Amino acid sequence: MSLQVPKGTYDLLPPTSAVHLKVREALAGPARLAGYGYVETPVFEDTAVFARGVGESTDIVAKEMYTFDDKGGRSITLRPEGTAPVVRAVLQGGLQNGQLPVKLWYAGSFYRYERAQKGRYRSFAQVGAEALGSDDPALDAELVWLAARGFADLGLQTTRLLLNSLGDSECRPAYRSALSESLGGLDLDEDTRRRAAMNPLRVLDDKRPQVQEQLAGVPLISEHLCAGCREHHDAVRGYLSDLGVAFTDEPRLVRGLDYYTRTTFEFVHDGLGAQSAIGGGGRYDGLSQALDGPPLPSIGWALGVDRTVLALAAEGIELTQRERCEVYVVPLGAAARRRTVSLLAALRLAGIATDCAYGGRGLKGAMKGADRSGARLTLVLGDRDLAGDVAQCKDMASGEQTPVALADVVEQTRERLAQ
Ligand code: HAM
Repeated sequence: MSLQVPKGTYDLLPPTSAVHLKVREALAGPARLAGYGYVETPVFEDTAVFARGVGESTDIVAKEMYTFDDKGGRSITLRPEGTAPVVRAVLQGGLQNGQLPVKLWYAGSFYRYERAQKGRYRSFAQVGAEALGSDDPALDAELVWLAARGFADLGLQTTRLLLNSLGDSECRPAYRSALSESLGGLDLDEDTRRRAAMNPLRVLDDKRPQVQEQLAGVPLISEHLCAGCREHHDAVRGYLSDLGVAFTDEPRLVRGLDYYTRTTFEFVHDGLGAQSAIGGGGRYDGLSQALDGPPLPSIGWALGVDRTVLALAAEGIELTQRERCEVYVVPLGAAARRRTVSLLAALRLAGIATDCAYGGRGLKGAMKGADRSGARLTLVLGDRDLAGDVAQCKDMASGEQTPVALADVVEQTRERLAQ
């Protein structure tokens, strides 16, 4: 086969595709129970949404965006993340004029031109939640708890939560200068110096041991928070403790997007190697204004579906993979095939997952299909059965076969499945 998926991407096919669906459902479930409504934005936006929203100094905007001019000459970008589009959508829809906070959740594919490796893809899936229009620290705690719940509901045991505050427009500038000055005294390579000049906080995120060693003595944001940010952060920590959410203070956690203020957090899983972040988020109190909106203090997160699936595998957790088919119908002969079309519809209308041997297969081949389908019951319809208005109902576990009147086959099947 000469045509393949592009580098850094992969297809989701059964049976593993069912695991991804389950992970999406589980990660979104807690937010849906907490008043978050579904939002869907286009997979592409005006490039300015990300350039202004995520920040020109970030790797995402500087190096990783899929950007192109459309046929009308507009600069378009495939979404690398969901927060800036959601804020754009809320402002465009005027939702900030109604009840606050506006609570929204989403799930979908995102695109970053990253160096592809296990756990890092160019097309990947996130489940996200955003709450716009409140600076209440209880909302920060709510969101962190919802994310932690999603992972716990899947059975993950060894996720860790890293927590930090990045300060705000009052205290961050002074911290930034102090950090800049301190970085200026270190022996850093040319590239890192350039990053430091653009955004010194980003250097803290450098994973290379030779850089980390040098960073040992640089000032930390936790020592520079203003009274408002300190109070907010202490309140969030207190609420998390009340909720029983364990966290580690990580004063060097900066995250890869420029919009963050105050609370920032990341969920990591140690079974994943280098790409250990399975989710992350934080406050973005200034993002609305960066997109020409009113002040709208907000917080949210996005959890990585692909990496959560890898984390489940690392912990040996198997979610049921099969899209279960409960009943398999085997029609033998033209008349039975005709009768089967409406029988399938009736069973499915009754909410019974049903499949059938298509293509006029003989009994032996069709029964192989029944075995593979994982169905608990098989209904065989031959000419003689049809003449007697019955189907043969075979219990696949015991092998026992009994005739069932076609007139009440749906009811009979339902009863047997309930046993
Ligand atoms: P992010 O940290 O860039 O944040 O992405 C969130 C999660 O998406 C990561 O923790 C990771 O699990 C997953 N992820 C990111 N890039 C990749 C990739 N290339 N391959 C596989 N998985 C990936 C955001 O996107 C923010 N919008 C989160 C947010 C929402 N902050 C506030 N609200």
